[in-house]
Amino acid sequence: MLNMLHGGAIGKMGSTRAEERFFVRAYAKINLTLDVLGRRSDGYHELASVMQTVALSDTLAFCSVEDGRTEFFCDVPTLNTPENLVYRAVQEVRAATGCQRGVRIELHKQTPAQGGLGGGSSDAASVLLALNRLWNLKLEGARLIALAARLGSDVPFFVLSGTALVEGRGERVTALPDLPGMWVLLLKPEIAVSTPAAFRALTPVDYTDGQATARLVAAIRESGMPPLDGLVNALEERVCEHYPQVAACRAALKAAGARYVRMSGSGPTLFALFPTLEEAAPVYQTLLQQGRQVWLARTVSRAEALAVFGPADGPNVSI
Ligand code: C5P
Repeated sequence: MLNMLHGGAIGKMGSTRAEERFFVRAYAKINLTLDVLGRRSDGYHELASVMQTVALSDTLAFCSVEDGRTEFFCDVPTLNTPENLVYRAVQEVRAATGCQRGVRIELHKQTPAQGGLGGGSSDAASVLLALNRLWNLKLEGARLIALAARLGSDVPFFVLSGTALVEGRGERVTALPDLPGMWVLLLKPEIAVSTPAAFRALTPVDYTDGQATARLVAAIRESGMPPLDGLVNALEERVCEHYPQVAACRAALKAAGARYVRMSGSGPTLFALFPTLEEAAPVYQTLLQQGRQVWLARTVSRAEALAVFGPADGPNVSI
């Protein structure tokens, strides 16, 4: 059943010509580094992070409908609500541009929600880029990023995708050159971590000086290769302290043979990087046999992540 969220009657299903529907993959992210520099007066935290898109994705379908309606359907019932960032992203675009055209968006969720992988934020950024194309709005990259920042701190990154430096609250994003492709093993402990709670748990001793992110950015720019032993996440120790399952999963990943393990964002998902599949596969198999929730993904470049949008709709970044 299609969820009608914006006036009007339900449109006749199937009335849209096939060629007018297009699909978008909204890729998840990991934080290769996450430095938290301190708490700001607005209650947010000042960040320095290198984020990377990975090949775990939600799928969105977009098509035009008549009468200026916004129709939205998500296949996860608890996410099929007007609070979904997808719906809010449509409202932001309408408010910013005055566009009254109708759209139907279908969202097939595969990235776990509240996992630290930015699934909802990626969906929202995909909506901004897709409406820019569908409605021929010609919004520039800076405008898309400003709209994205209104939706959430992780959303601006996904307007760029690929590998990027993220600063401020999350609204300052700088494209970095693509990393060499790597395998990314993801393990999600079977709990949800609230992002505000993870940030609230920080004390001043947890704040970092941003050097880990600066070093990683320098290494990516100079040699293209990140030093895998230099990855940090300022939120990780407190989350592991409050949620022993996360610490246990981290230990399980290491015991299975992963050398470089970090938590992504505010968690609880942990990731491990591997240059080759030969190195990643036995670790993946061990964790699968333990009945854990694991994915073996890979890094996704900016060009691949944004391929569907073409140069006219994308953020038009220079590195
Ligand atoms: O921006 P977003 O709504 O995704 O942030 C969720 C929560 O995470 C914020 O309300 C805040 O508690 C915390 N946060 C933060 N500093 C950031 C980003 C998020 O404290 N830079």
